[in-house]
Amino acid sequence: MERVIELRSDTFTLPTASMRAAMAAAEVGDDVWDEDPTIHRLQQRAAEMVGKEASLFVPSGTMGNLCALLSHTQPGQEVIVELDSHIFQNEVAGASVAGGLQLRPLDTQDGRLHPDQVRRAIRPADIHEPTTGLLCLENTHNRKGGTCLSARQTAALSEVAHEAGFPVHLDGARVFNSAVAQRIDARELTAHVDSVMFCLSKGLSAPVGSMLAGSGDFIERARRMRKMLGGGMRQAGVLAAAGLCALNEMVDRLAEDHANARRLAEGLQGLPGVDIDLSRVETNMVFGDCRPPLTAGAFLTRCRELGVLLDQASPVRWRMVTHRGVTAEDVDYAVDAIRGAFGATATPSLRVAG
Ligand SMILES: Cc1ncc(COP(=O)(O)O)c(C=O)c1O
Repeated sequence: MERVIELRSDTFTLPTASMRAAMAAAEVGDDVWDEDPTIHRLQQRAAEMVGKEASLFVPSGTMGNLCALLSHTQPGQEVIVELDSHIFQNEVAGASVAGGLQLRPLDTQDGRLHPDQVRRAIRPADIHEPTTGLLCLENTHNRKGGTCLSARQTAALSEVAHEAGFPVHLDGARVFNSAVAQRIDARELTAHVDSVMFCLSKGLSAPVGSMLAGSGDFIERARRMRKMLGGGMRQAGVLAAAGLCALNEMVDRLAEDHANARRLAEGLQGLPGVDIDLSRVETNMVFGDCRPPLTAGAFLTRCRELGVLLDQASPVRWRMVTHRGVTAEDVDYAVDAIRGAFGATATPSLRVAG
């Protein structure tokens, strides 16, 4: 079979042998009745890893975020989000449809909201305006390049919301990528927020599932919201077993994905017709901007012919994501194939460095 390098997303990671064995052996029960022992273990472990009182296993990151939004707010309230956040761009307006919420998007250069910007967006007590009910942060920020919020930035942003009297939810789909990249414990990134969602099914390689964590009261409300949205999953301990492996075995190795993303970005640097901002490559994502007449569509098609699969982010932007299914050798293969096809034959010097 032709060689294929899968760079579309870290959601393409496959379960490990250890996950498959744990799934086969998992002790299970009816989780809607709160009687699945493997889910209990996963929820306890997840809560502990992000320093929260309790957590809830949910089928997807999208449902985890929606459960959080519904549990923190009242219909008619406004939620402050970053313009390119997943919640605003990629969650099918669930917050508005299911929660009766208005989203207030604020633009940033790199996905990192500024405390002053948030302060200015808070609604005054005026009968004509909605009330601000929640601030959402995203770490790492997907569409802005996989960029990281620091613990200090998270604390400063949370302080603005808390001073104004409303809570903070962190979309931490890839919060462990952020913690590993910054060489800190994930708890430092979650200490100041009221709730956090993170995904088991992305870089951590579990086949299904995300976790929502927060206070005991919050998780009780979220559990009800999960049921309303159809996310009660019965003997889902078979999935939670893989999630436990993800948390116990797959976090530290994310550093490899980050090194490979850098290797990829540096390898593709200087490609004719494509701009790559190396300063944005902080975790496992590489974004490129095509200059006319080259389009992202044409770039993707040519790469696909070479066996390199990537994702289109806009008519001119593409995204490559490294993960457990991509080795350093795969990266070198992809770089050589793409450079060859786009007429940039000189091999970059990083290759020597290994
Ligand atoms: C930042 C972010 N939040 C939330 C999600 C949603 O996760 P899921 O695909 O499991 O619904 C994603 C998925 O890519 C994401 O990148």
